[in-house]
Amino acid sequence: MSDTIERLKQRAAQGAVDHVNSGSVLGLGTGSTMRYMLEELAQRLADGRLHSIVGIPTSEQTAQQAQRLNIPLTSLAEHPELDLAIDGADEIDPELNLIKGLGGALLREKIVESAARKLIIIADGSKMVAQLGSRVPLPIEVVPFATPLVLRRLTMLGGNAVLRCTADGLPFVTDEDNYILDYHSGPILDPVGLDRTLLSIPGIVEHGLFLGMAHMALIADGDDMRVLTRTT
Ligand code: A5P
Repeated sequence: MSDTIERLKQRAAQGAVDHVNSGSVLGLGTGSTMRYMLEELAQRLADGRLHSIVGIPTSEQTAQQAQRLNIPLTSLAEHPELDLAIDGADEIDPELNLIKGLGGALLREKIVESAARKLIIIADGSKMVAQLGSRVPLPIEVVPFATPLVLRRLTMLGGNAVLRCTADGLPFVTDEDNYILDYHSGPILDPVGLDRTLLSIPGIVEHGLFLGMAHMALIADGDDMRVLTRTT
């Protein structure tokens, strides 16, 4: 990853922390952009610019990083409603619909972010697309037992689905002990229809289409910071 992209991610991440108020319950997303956000949040907690924040992590990876940075954590049991969630995304369309899950945390991300009053997405400009599915496959979390059946069903829908594997050739296992299928569908003309179709297939636990969930996106692009807000 180039230095420039890393700087853009960092700028978007730092900008998002300006939207965090002291006393908030905060959903903490997962991924390389979020790492910068956690560092900035920890810095502002340490120097007193922010206080009384508790975070709900969307993955074991984020939980570990937050613990290392002394960011206080809580759970959905203690705080079933969140003030704000902040997360990265793999693709963002002009209506702020998203593809997420290349990092494998889509299930907990969708659960936590669905409980937040507001979701802010942070990204560099390369994540913007005219149509979801243009650049990346759609990650789909499946129960391991159902994987052959779901692969068959996705092939019948058109496109190509691949079981995500780690570098040693074993299936990638999510925090919820499921597998991920990366569904190469090409540009998704009807995201709402695909959402319904996928959730009707037994064995699919969740997928990475986040429709109508993001309220704002902070997109660092060159020297600009684009702030997109959802109007509907
Ligand atoms: C994690 O499962 C994903 O949804 C990430 O939020 C997404 O992949 C963005 O990650 P990066 O910030 O690393 O691009």
